Amino acid sequence: MRSVLCVALFAPAIVMAEGQVQAEQVSAGKALYKAHCALCHGSRGQGVPPMFPNLVSKPPEAHAAMMQNYRAGHGHKVMVDMAKSLNERQIDDLMLYIATFPPKK
Ligand code: HEC
Repeated sequence: MRSVLCVALFAPAIVMAEGQVQAEQVSAGKALYKAHCALCHGSRGQGVPPMFPNLVSKPPEAHAAMMQNYRAGHGHKVMVDMAKSLNERQIDDLMLYIATFPPKK
C-alpha cells in the first residue's frame, strides 16, 4: 500500500521534471539554432528557396536522421562540416527546438 502511495505521489513530480529537462533542451537548441543555423535556414526554419531548404515540411525525425547522415560524412559539405562540429546532445537540442516551428501547410 505504501509503495502504491509513493508512486501516486511521485509520478507527477517525475513527469514534471522531464518536462523541465525538455524545456531546457529546447532553449539550448534555440540558442544553437540562432547562432549556427538561422542564417541559412531562416529564423523560423522557413529556408531560402531554392538555396537553403526549409526545416518545416518534413517531420522532426526526418531532420534528425539527416543530421546523423551528414555527421557520418554523407551529403552537402556545408552540412557535413556543420553536423560534425556538433555533439549528439547539441543535435538533440536543436531537433527539439526545430520541432517547435509551425509546420508548413
Ligand atoms: C551556410 C549555410 C547553412 C548553415 C549555416 C546550415 N545549413 Fe543546413 N543546409 C544547408 C544546405 C545548402 C542544405 C541542403 C543540402 C543538400 O542539398 O543536401 C542544408 C540542409 C539541411 C537539412 C536537411 C533538410 C532537407 O530537408 O533536406 C537539415 C536538417 C539542416 N540543414 C539542418 C541544419 C541545422 C540544424 C543547422 C545549424 C546547426 C544548419 N542546417 C546550418 C545550408 C546550411
